[in-house]
Amino acid sequence: MNLFDVYPLYDLEIVSGKNCYIYDKQGREYLDLYGGHAVISIGHSHPHYVRSICEQVARIGFYSNSVVNSLQTKFATRLGKISGYEEYSLFLVNSGAEANENALKLASFHNGRRKVVAFRKAFHGRTSAAVRVTDNPGIVAPINQGMEVEFLALNDIPAMQNCLSRGDVCAVIIEGIMGVGGVHIPQPAFLQALRKTCNETKTVLILDEIQSGYGRSGRFFAHQYAGIRPDMITVAKGIANGFPMSGLIIGPEFKAVHGMLGTTFGGNHLACAAALAVLDVMEQENLIGNAARVGDFLMKECKTLPQIAEVRGLGLMIGLEFDKPIKELRKKLLFEHGVFTGVSGSNVIRLLPPLSLSMEQAGIFIEKLVLALKTF
Ligand SMILES: Cc1ncc(COP(=O)(O)O)c(C=O)c1O
Repeated sequence: MNLFDVYPLYDLEIVSGKNCYIYDKQGREYLDLYGGHAVISIGHSHPHYVRSICEQVARIGFYSNSVVNSLQTKFATRLGKISGYEEYSLFLVNSGAEANENALKLASFHNGRRKVVAFRKAFHGRTSAAVRVTDNPGIVAPINQGMEVEFLALNDIPAMQNCLSRGDVCAVIIEGIMGVGGVHIPQPAFLQALRKTCNETKTVLILDEIQSGYGRSGRFFAHQYAGIRPDMITVAKGIANGFPMSGLIIGPEFKAVHGMLGTTFGGNHLACAAALAVLDVMEQENLIGNAARVGDFLMKECKTLPQIAEVRGLGLMIGLEFDKPIKELRKKLLFEHGVFTGVSGSNVIRLLPPLSLSMEQAGIFIEKLVLALKTF
């Protein structure tokens, strides 16, 4: 059987990793400024994480959600504390799209409405509702097109107020920092106005923190820079450092009814052990503070490079916008300088390293970027 060929691949096989470095089959070392697409939060193969997963799977890896799993309650308590959302509840699933899918469903169960507002260039995943609120018609299949969605410009307060004032919008879904769309940050004043308008119109506010959350922005959630509290927050990627897991953090106004949501794999023992180990390391190594510090340094350095048209970001979620396509620059960084980076569109390099990236490693990246830019 062949693989269904949907991914354009680099001719490169990564076989191991240690903290912020990854290694290919030939033993070549790469500095990981991509974090496997913002997934690696505490660094590759952290010993505490490896030990926790091994010990858990030796006891039990999975049992169904029809019995008590105290690892889930332990994790929910820890997540509530570190994120500042102790009075919210947690529903665990397996991927970012699935978390958003459940958030949209729950919003609709809650207020009975159908229409959703999202933002231009947004990405929320590939399941039915999640892909419909993603602003990329190329990945929306005819079967997904039924849901009513309006896309608005990010940060346009009057357009948002006008749209919500009709009182027929079920939910607004917005990324804490727009990632796939090019690292665009919602302005705090916009988020505050959105919160107020959602309250006035009984619209559910969903913050998709799948990429920008879990400490990446230098705060636990990027929206916390604006001082707002959404009705629901979705988390994935960094939550279990690569073990497939995601969560929906649900405000106290939502009433749980047995059977309304559910999943086979979500919140299994192994996933919870991985997620608990991630929180241990984040706290012990103060990785949120590190993301803020190292991110500031990277952005300051990048702003001095004349080839870069604009530097945007918070913490360790950084977009470097060029005024020409960067495909060749990324290849050069990867194959000539041993640095893995991410991308948004054609002209933006996206940096999403492990939150454990050190100042020294950030300095090495800048040196390599300067070298690569000499011949770009
Ligand atoms: C903001 C955001 N939402 C949702 C998703 C979808 O997550 P997953 O691929 O785990 O379904 C992503 C993935 O890149 C994302 O960046």
